[in-house]
Amino acid sequence: MERVKTGIAGMDEVLNGGIPLHRHIALNGGPGAGKTSFSFEYIYRGAQMGENGVYITLEETPEDIIENMSATFTGFTDMADLISSKKMEIIKPDKFRLEDIAELLEERIANNDIKRAVIDSSTMVRLAFKDESEYRQTMFEFFSLLRNLDITAIMTVEAANQDLATSKFDIEHFVLDGIINLYNLGKAEQRVKAVEVYKMRGTDHKREKIPFKITPNGIKVFVGEKVF
Ligand SMILES: Nc1ncnc2c1ncn2[C@@H]1O[C@H](COP(=O)(O)OP(=O)(O)O)[C@@H](O)[C@H]1O
Ligand SMILES: [Mg+2]
Repeated sequence: MERVKTGIAGMDEVLNGGIPLHRHIALNGGPGAGKTSFSFEYIYRGAQMGENGVYITLEETPEDIIENMSATFTGFTDMADLISSKKMEIIKPDKFRLEDIAELLEERIANNDIKRAVIDSSTMVRLAFKDESEYRQTMFEFFSLLRNLDITAIMTVEAANQDLATSKFDIEHFVLDGIINLYNLGKAEQRVKAVEVYKMRGTDHKREKIPFKITPNGIKVFVGEKVF
């Protein structure tokens, strides 16, 4: 099976080599769990490896994303070059409808050969729907359409709770091929971040919660270490 390497230290080992090609996954977690950092590094590592990517930000402006990620990842010294050469693009669309996002992706595939995409976050898309079943149907159609495109995408999903991935059974997860949960766990006086591959269709993967850290040189997943 062909796989897309996340390039995040330790993460591809957790995924048995990477995300299966052309699969689309949900990255789930509470506020501050690390969804934006994780998904941003996925696009950044792709750009470094010669796979163009687009980071679609629905909540923050591209300027805010670049400012925050430059502050978090001070070691990503080639980031500005990768952005100016369009190997990574950070875009806030005018409209948040899934049809518009799909159109944007098709346009960037045609014009910039993008292979990776991030949508941060689904929460903003959901707000446009009055009705859960209508949202679910549109999500289903959106990901059916994405399946025919030559990209591997991550959609972030905001969970209500920091410790538990309470939105585990949200509708995003029924239509997506994989679920990665990020946790902010209480440990003594400090919080410990952990990652868990909850579901990944078509591949084996590690199942336990594995600690990770956000460092200036990228996220490090400590494979083989226990959270407690
Ligand atoms: N340089 C850094 N070193 C360690 N942690 C950092 C650094 N910069 C930001 N963080 C942590 O990253 C988290 C924010 O992550 P973010 O990706 O924005 O989360 P989310 O998108 O899930 O809300 C915060 O918990 C913050 O403490
Ligand atoms: Mg975020």
